[in-house]
Amino acid sequence: MCGIIGITGSEDTAAGLLEGLALLEYRGYDSAGIAVVEPSNKIFRLRAAEQGGSLYHLGNGLPKEKTARLKYAAGIGHTRWATHGAPTVSNAHPHVDCQSTLAVVHNGIIENHNRLARDLKERGHHFASETDTEVIAHLLEEQIAGGKSVKDAVISLLTVLRGAFALALVHKDFPDTIYAARRTSPLIIGSEAGVGLLASDVAAVLERTRNLFELGDDQAAEIRPGAFRVYDHLGVEMQPKAINVGWSTEAARKGGFPDYMSKEIHEQPRAVAETILGRLEPSGETRLEELDIDDGRLAAVERVLLVACGSSYHAALAGRHAMEAWAKIPAEVDIASEMRYRSMQIPKNTLVVAISQSGETTDTYHAMRQARSQEVMTVAVTNVVGSLMTRETDGVLYTRAGPEIGVASTKCHVAQLALLQCLALRVADLKGTLSVAEKSAVAEEILSLPSLIERTLLGQEQFRKVAERYAEARDFYYLGRRLGFPVALEGALKLKELAYVRAEAYPAGEMKHGPISLIEPGSVVVVVAKRSSLWEKIMANVEEMRARGATVIAVADEGDEETAALVDDVLETPPVTEVCSPVIGVLPLQVFAYTVAKAKGHDVDRPRNLAKVVTVE
Ligand code: G6P
Repeated sequence: MCGIIGITGSEDTAAGLLEGLALLEYRGYDSAGIAVVEPSNKIFRLRAAEQGGSLYHLGNGLPKEKTARLKYAAGIGHTRWATHGAPTVSNAHPHVDCQSTLAVVHNGIIENHNRLARDLKERGHHFASETDTEVIAHLLEEQIAGGKSVKDAVISLLTVLRGAFALALVHKDFPDTIYAARRTSPLIIGSEAGVGLLASDVAAVLERTRNLFELGDDQAAEIRPGAFRVYDHLGVEMQPKAINVGWSTEAARKGGFPDYMSKEIHEQPRAVAETILGRLEPSGETRLEELDIDDGRLAAVERVLLVACGSSYHAALAGRHAMEAWAKIPAEVDIASEMRYRSMQIPKNTLVVAISQSGETTDTYHAMRQARSQEVMTVAVTNVVGSLMTRETDGVLYTRAGPEIGVASTKCHVAQLALLQCLALRVADLKGTLSVAEKSAVAEEILSLPSLIERTLLGQEQFRKVAERYAEARDFYYLGRRLGFPVALEGALKLKELAYVRAEAYPAGEMKHGPISLIEPGSVVVVVAKRSSLWEKIMANVEEMRARGATVIAVADEGDEETAALVDDVLETPPVTEVCSPVIGVLPLQVFAYTVAKAKGHDVDRPRNLAKVVTVE
């Protein structure tokens, strides 16, 4: 889950690499580095490893004279999230071969690196890091010494390396060329006015060009100023696929907010509005054209299996209820990292919906592939155009939330919730399970979500005030029932990942089967108590908590004085039907976690130990 950038032919190679890395930091940030070919045919390499400050140190370590000398040269950069080897300078990329003739950056995992490294060491290669990446540098060194061109040596890696990789390299004798290869992990090539670009995702190069191409699986590339060539694993030249990206570059910036997370919280009405745009009529008609699955096949779906990780998993848990309530078919949810290792026979006519903001989470990708191997229909719900999962599925549905930089998902999560509702309504429509009036009522509700989100976020100040009162609390319990449970899970996850505070989420009715013994004076219970048919039951659970000394904060409907009278603090949100309530209920909990994290002085965009895109198991 590292970020890669490459630039050649630009008058600001070194600065451009640092800029690109800054845009990629959400992919990992425990260390960073760059390598550029100097005019004297030497590799200039600079690396830093400081949690939260690698790029700053990299920038400071780059003398002005050096920047001037590196103009127009080919350079590569990398921001790392450690998988093999601690986040130290010696493990930071780029890695070089024994003679520093070439420098390599890599994202992914080389599964056969142990054996390759052992053989290389036996043949006299000296290793300077604990990474799996370094084998690539030494393998290339050998191949080139044996007479292969750099291009052919890179192509040969496609046969030698096992695992997932996106790699880029520069060689001292070819000062204007970047070489690249990939399997599974993505790479994007850009070409503009005499400049050649390479990146692990579009956010890093969007400001420089929209002339973008996808390097295919098991392909290699040579990128020169303003031109590039792509080859398959046999060395046959290939035509790369152009990528059409609608994002504005501004969308990838903080837009005046102190951090990406608050910007992204603020962007939620738009994220949902754009996600449902053109997909839903007030009459309940749905259009999911890009889904690209035949209506007949979709109408024949008899059950749904939703798989995902993290916040996307919580969206799946909520989406399941929409599918059951509207399409009236069984809907199950599984955690992708569990599902992929179960001996599961998925019944025919199951629709597997794999949900992933990044479209690259390894576990979700493999769970989806497992479903495909059983010949069931799959749909990927993702926010990243052209991401890995979109290339290996029957249908794709994009949340149109724009790039999400904050590691903790906010706008993509609510966009996923809304999109799963559109999908459930589509299946219901095709199956004819809702009356005309019901269909239209559901559609009206979904269409009103952007303005309801906006209205909810007007209460941010009040949410913050409540949160500040609990900034020092030690133990939190998040409770909900039915649609309130995924909201409780998401609220607790936000608090854990941002504020580093213990927070357990439980279905409220399950507390009495064990966890209630943890409740004591000082425990804080956050309960999702929006009005639904289960309101009385959840309030009975609240009483059980209060009787044991807990302080209770309720996510409740605006003006619901009855709930307010039974708890210590209220986070007020507009009333909404139960199926649509997770979109609204989660908002105060995002702000709550944000506020507690800020009060503790944490970096909300880059919580410790986490990465935005998890491409390892
Ligand atoms: C990481 C992120 C979470 C995200 C999860 C799943 O853990 O920190 O915010 O929910 O991955 O990511 P995906 O891209 O598959 O939705």
